[in-house]
Amino acid sequence: MKKIVIATLLTVFAAALLLFIFVAEPAKAVVKPAPIVAEPAKAVAQSAPAVSDMSLPMPLGLKGDPAKGGVFFMTNCFTCHGVAGDGNGPRAYFITPPPRNFLLETSRQRLNRPVLFEAITNGRLGTNMPAWGKVLSNQEIADVAEFVFQNFISAPQGNKGKQG
Ligand code: HEC
Repeated sequence: MKKIVIATLLTVFAAALLLFIFVAEPAKAVVKPAPIVAEPAKAVAQSAPAVSDMSLPMPLGLKGDPAKGGVFFMTNCFTCHGVAGDGNGPRAYFITPPPRNFLLETSRQRLNRPVLFEAITNGRLGTNMPAWGKVLSNQEIADVAEFVFQNFISAPQGNKGKQG
């Protein structure tokens, strides 16, 4: 009689074990795809070329007015990017990743007029860089992009600011 009880218990135990393995397996499979979701975001952030053609014009046939753009920059952009474009505005300390330093060689080789226009229009997802296309006209974006281009990107000085 005892043997039968033990045999029954063993069978139940084995069945429970099998059930556990089957139930646990799909759970693992559900956890796995998570890192794959993160990949495309990275790819988008790094998609801009490292070196751009600096002679390209503003998109959509626009011609930016740097004087008008300068007024806008010194009211709305300097808080993060700094009056000198070095990414050291009064709000910069609180922001991660930090606002772009336009004076670095890496910025000066990449941020041509089309890239500036696109970045200012769409902002940078996952950062504090706002999408200005929601509040500015294309002409106003071209103006501020032209100001950034002439004063920081293509200006002769360069700068060894904080960002690497
Ligand atoms: C609230 C802070 C903040 C304000 C205001 C702001 N920016 Fe930015 N900006 C950022 C941050 C943060 C980044 C860095 C994003 C990154 O690392 O890709 C950035 C990046 C950029 C870039 C570079 C994008 C690239 O591809 O490297 C440009 C150009 C730019 N900003 C222009 C502007 C202009 C022009 C204004 C004003 C109209 C402005 N920003 C206002 C925070 C700000």
